[in-house]
Amino acid sequence: MRCLAAVSQALQSELNAWPLHRVEVDGVAATIALLPLPEPDFDAGCNQHQDAVLVRVTAFSLNYREKYRVLSLTETQDKTYRVLGSEFVGIVEAVGHCVQHLKVGDRVIGDGCVDPGLDAPGLSSTRASAELQILPAHKVVRISSEMPDEVAAGFSVGAQTAYSMVNRLPLQPGQHVLVTGATSNTSLFVLKKLQMLGVKIHALTTNPGSIAPLRAMQLNGVCLIDKEQDFAEQFQAYLFEQGCAYLDHVVDPFFDVYLPKVLPFVRRFGFYVTCGVARQSALAKLHSYSSAGLSIDQIFNLLLRKSITLIGNNLGTAADLSQALQDYENETLRVDIAQIFEHDTQLGDFVQSSFCHTQRFGKVIFKYQ
Ligand SMILES: NC(=O)c1ccc[n+]([C@@H]2O[C@H](COP(=O)([O-])OP(=O)(O)OC[C@H]3O[C@@H](n4cnc5c(N)ncnc54)[C@H](OP(=O)(O)O)[C@@H]3O)[C@@H](O)[C@H]2O)c1
Repeated sequence: MRCLAAVSQALQSELNAWPLHRVEVDGVAATIALLPLPEPDFDAGCNQHQDAVLVRVTAFSLNYREKYRVLSLTETQDKTYRVLGSEFVGIVEAVGHCVQHLKVGDRVIGDGCVDPGLDAPGLSSTRASAELQILPAHKVVRISSEMPDEVAAGFSVGAQTAYSMVNRLPLQPGQHVLVTGATSNTSLFVLKKLQMLGVKIHALTTNPGSIAPLRAMQLNGVCLIDKEQDFAEQFQAYLFEQGCAYLDHVVDPFFDVYLPKVLPFVRRFGFYVTCGVARQSALAKLHSYSSAGLSIDQIFNLLLRKSITLIGNNLGTAADLSQALQDYENETLRVDIAQIFEHDTQLGDFVQSSFCHTQRFGKVIFKYQ
């Protein structure tokens, strides 16, 4: 079976006949390849696999965190590789003898459910590109034939996380909600979920190329921030233009970047929910903002003084994903796909586009032929 993997420098010399693809992630050169791996042994009758399914992956995609899985291999001296992929769609090929709700032939995606009391909370697979996967049956969910592979392969993590973050906010119609990193896949799902709720939505982006597609979503406002200029001045001017004194809620996938800058604009008793950080590795060469924002002491001081609720969020519940799937089926949730790749020769472009393409709007998908 095949898998997309980041390959260490030391291993490359042993793969000399194998097609390797060079990519550049955050300014660091790395190597990836479609590697052949032994197929996993699935025994539907054995106790070890009684609650599991064997899934053949037909398409997959990459998430922001995997940039750092790739980067982590650029400094090691070991002969090693790291299988990539967080989201997939596939077909069930075999089911364990205790599995009731799935059958051979079902199309499934991962369910990263973190419901209290559930076994194996978190991502269903951190090796989503591996063509064959043995997964706990409760960590995949059946999808309808209406959802094409290119949508399904980039749906589960973004939709589940976004729905969870929005569902955890006590939103009232007419309230002002800011979504940072607006063109991240997570935030695109957040924006779409918020559009169903009658709130005033403000999208903050650093990408001038995304202004047109964000405006086309008919949000209340799109705030383009220039990283080289003072953040507070630009954001204050935007809020003034919008007639918004303070934000009621913030949804932020990059808290190390935005919490120190945006918190002063949140009202007393407001809410701030976040699911991630931008700097996930010391190796990352990020293009940072020139304005630093509040220190950690100032952040906690402000949270206390203004009684602001700060919510940390990891993935979501099974109900969050199921709600998103329902909205997709009802056509209230539309999903943007930026690019689809299908050929092994395009692997480098697939990874480069997933991680580094500044004009990307939506998910980048790789389909196995
Ligand atoms: N905990 C969880 O359950 C969970 C689940 C999913 C995602 N996440 C987290 O959510 C974040 C987004 O993930 P994703 O896969 O949706 O990302 P993505 O699609 O790769 O996001 C790319 C966009 O994010 C913004 N961005 C990228 N690098 C940035 C930086 N250094 N500083 C500020 N903004 C930056 C830019 O948006 P603009 O151009 O619009 O500014 C960029 O276009 C990550 O931190 C990820 O780890 C967490």
